[in-house]
Amino acid sequence: MNYRHAFHAGNFADVVKHVVLARILAYLGQKDAAYRVLDTHAGAGLYDLAGEEAQRTGEWEGGIGAVLRATFTPEVTALLKPWLDVVRAVNPGVEGDTPAALAARLRHYPGSPLIAQALTRPQDRLLFCETVGGVRESLTDAIGRDGRTKVLPTDAWQALTAYLPPKERRGLVLVDPPFEEPGEFHRMAQGLIEAHKRWPTGVYALWYPIKDVRAVDGFRREIERARIPKVLNIQFDLRAVRQADAMSGCGLIIVNPPFVLAEELRLVLNALVRVLATDGTGRVRIGWITAER
Ligand SMILES: C[S@@+](CC[C@H](N)C(=O)[O-])C[C@H]1O[C@@H](n2cnc3c(N)ncnc32)[C@H](O)[C@@H]1O
Repeated sequence: MNYRHAFHAGNFADVVKHVVLARILAYLGQKDAAYRVLDTHAGAGLYDLAGEEAQRTGEWEGGIGAVLRATFTPEVTALLKPWLDVVRAVNPGVEGDTPAALAARLRHYPGSPLIAQALTRPQDRLLFCETVGGVRESLTDAIGRDGRTKVLPTDAWQALTAYLPPKERRGLVLVDPPFEEPGEFHRMAQGLIEAHKRWPTGVYALWYPIKDVRAVDGFRREIERARIPKVLNIQFDLRAVRQADAMSGCGLIIVNPPFVLAEELRLVLNALVRVLATDGTGRVRIGWITAER
């Protein structure tokens, strides 16, 4: 398997995933009690948008690039702020604090571990799993010295049982597989079911691509059958028309979502779809798979 996230860093799917991540962390940080982040598929942490991979696809231009060029209402701007503050922090030396100024000098994009590192507090703890050696080294470099974090070579699916529940008994598990191997949807559903048995009160965010619609439906049904309570499904369709083998959208399954999350995401993702879905056929669907609280 040779998936490299550098080709896709900062694209529309990263934008959606990272906005959701930042909103969940903002909520968890409202209480003083420490919490844990387990990022099972961490990636390299920091991506060079001027590097060969990112340049080859240019995907980031239709993602973070488009977001920084857009204008949003004050409410949406406030919801995007924690995530965009991290993007700004990894691009030092930008003069002026407007998104346009950042867009003009954008060079780096932060992955989920750097976003989590930036948005957590001294009392919080973070575990990042990454099985590919070179990618793991890049991640360790990107994180720098931070006694709160551990970068581990542990396989994601083992981590879901080995490291749960965390001793803090609060926190978030982010599961973001590359979806390059057959059976990934089933593995992810089973991983959630096992993890949830061990830690039923944790917040879980599971990212998935919308490409093979039947696989997506099967995944949702598998989760529905497991009768895990409080499961929110977020679907972000970039376009209505499906092209063979191209990702037409992405989604996230959120277990135990913070109380305000669905409403916040309705606002912010509907604003983002207008900016990112350029052919006007994009749409956002947010609904409960199992029982709203
Ligand atoms: C989609 S990327 C992660 C992106 C990252 N979560 C972010 O948002 O910035 C998936 C990563 O998972 C790693 N990976 C693949 N299979 C894995 C496994 N079984 N356990 C842990 N990491 C894995 C890949 O090497 C890749 O870096």
